[in-house]
Amino acid sequence: MGKLDNKVAFITGAGSGMGAAQSLLFAKEGAKIIAADINLEGVKKIVEKIKEDGGEAVAVEIDVSDSSSVKDAVKEGLESFERIDVLSNTAGVLDDYAPTLETSEELWDKIININLKGVYNVTNAVLPQMIDNKEGVVINIASIAAFVAGGGGAAYTAAKHGIAGYTKQLSFDYGNKGIRANAIAPGAVESGMTKEIFESGDAAVMESVNSVPAGRYGSPEEIATAALFLASEDSSFMHGAIMPVDGGWLVK
Ligand SMILES: NC(=O)c1ccc[n+]([C@@H]2O[C@H](COP(=O)([O-])OP(=O)(O)OC[C@H]3O[C@@H](n4cnc5c(N)ncnc54)[C@H](O)[C@@H]3O)[C@@H](O)[C@H]2O)c1
Repeated sequence: MGKLDNKVAFITGAGSGMGAAQSLLFAKEGAKIIAADINLEGVKKIVEKIKEDGGEAVAVEIDVSDSSSVKDAVKEGLESFERIDVLSNTAGVLDDYAPTLETSEELWDKIININLKGVYNVTNAVLPQMIDNKEGVVINIASIAAFVAGGGGAAYTAAKHGIAGYTKQLSFDYGNKGIRANAIAPGAVESGMTKEIFESGDAAVMESVNSVPAGRYGSPEEIATAALFLASEDSSFMHGAIMPVDGGWLVK
């Protein structure tokens, strides 16, 4: 028996990194996966892998910053699997650590629209049918930048702090309607977002990444296992938590 048997999971950012790892793990645990990403080729590959392993999944194209694209993607997902039990808002982009004076209005809007408004767009499109079903789980991928400075630039840190507040308010407003909303705050993780930065071996970056208690960066799979915990009944009493999975970054 899997931990997510008979569940359907809608995962954004599923074409790479943590979203891809969650898609593969949740499918292994019995969930049907609606794998959503702006990079359709990326999610198609993940869906193929899931099917090869005997699971069920569909790939949908989504731009989380665009509410009409989000509505279309959710409709497409529901047409395939009829319901959504678990939503993982994982899609996100980095702002190249730009301080506010180096953050153009265009960069600010891009980061806030994808990383924060995107979470609101997708949640609002999925939540009504969860409420009708009287159950649902929302997992928002925040960051250590939801707690402290230095994990991103001005816009990224503002957006991730915003996700933390939004997650708490979601629980406050819908916890008593069967919805559990929690967030994960990953530390440094090797993914599409960070691969080049880590490979460049920049001394300052590598010092901050490796000086955490774990002494290393994490893998997308190490975030996916935490997401599985939040998606499953194992976390049945958790509401509105912002859970660090960060190799100890936040103890500094
Ligand atoms: N990698 C890290 O060190 C780290 C640390 C903390 C938090 N995070 C967060 O984890 C989440 C996942 O990132 P990752 O590290 O797996 O990176 P990644 O780049 O490997 O994956 C992000 C995915 O989001 C997709 N995406 C980007 N813009 C989109 C949009 N507008 N609509 C739909 N999909 C879009 C990309 O195509 C990509 O597949 C992000 O929210 C990121 O901010 C990452």
